[in-house]
Amino acid sequence: MQADKNAVGDPRPIGVFDSGVGGLTVMRSLIDLLPNESFIYFGDTARTPYGPKPAADVLKFSIQISELLAERDVKVLVDACNTSTAVALEALTERLNTPIVGVIEPGIRAAREATRSGRVGVIGTVGTIESGAYERTAAVVAPEIALIGAACPGFVEFVEAGDIDSHQVHVLAQRLLAPVIEAEVDTLVLGCTHYPMLARTISDVMGPDVVLVSSADETAFSVSLMLAADDIHASKNSAATHEFLTSGNTATFAELGSRFLGPEVEQVKGWSW
Ligand code: DGL
Repeated sequence: MQADKNAVGDPRPIGVFDSGVGGLTVMRSLIDLLPNESFIYFGDTARTPYGPKPAADVLKFSIQISELLAERDVKVLVDACNTSTAVALEALTERLNTPIVGVIEPGIRAAREATRSGRVGVIGTVGTIESGAYERTAAVVAPEIALIGAACPGFVEFVEAGDIDSHQVHVLAQRLLAPVIEAEVDTLVLGCTHYPMLARTISDVMGPDVVLVSSADETAFSVSLMLAADDIHASKNSAATHEFLTSGNTATFAELGSRFLGPEVEQVKGWSW
């Protein structure tokens, strides 16, 4: 008799990576939507931040990490970092045999659903905004929307320092968000892993009529569709395990990571190239 495929499922883990701890905001959505799946998360905390680095470096790091995770037999890879998705997703898709999902296209799709005026802002790191990746993706996925980008250097550092709503962060937000306020957007894509943590401050500055869109939930939904299309879901009875690898200090990752993800951050292992 043939084994019931649904009972067995595909127990291989899903690989998720980011420049550091920020991608855990995407992993939160993945775990919530796909509670039976196991995950391996790689945070490149030794080389974070990627945002201000040259695109060639971010590409090199992204290839290194995705190859490392592919060798661990992950069934799907999630590039949870906006900066890496912006400069490396195309190259990774060509290079790897493992299917890979980035965070930019899901963010654009979510914005397309949310906007009424068609005027959409996107904020991200300098690397993400300068790459033009959001504009290129929107031209294909949602050509009807007008996209206005603004880089927000400094936001990541505030979040990592645990400061998400001080007077200083408000003042910085008022300055950095001025271009998207002036452009009268009705929807703002939080195009960086860390920005959902600043949602309240950003919303205060943007005003109550602007919808904030985070790509995390939409990315998780894309992964779920991919698992269904390839019939590679884990079984409903499987006990999910989560493993965390960091190129930096394991204790720092665990401390900071639990603020982004929650209690699932355990079993943090160090990794050196
Ligand atoms: N993970 C990065 C992103 O989403 C933010 C942090 C960094 O600059 O490395 O763009």
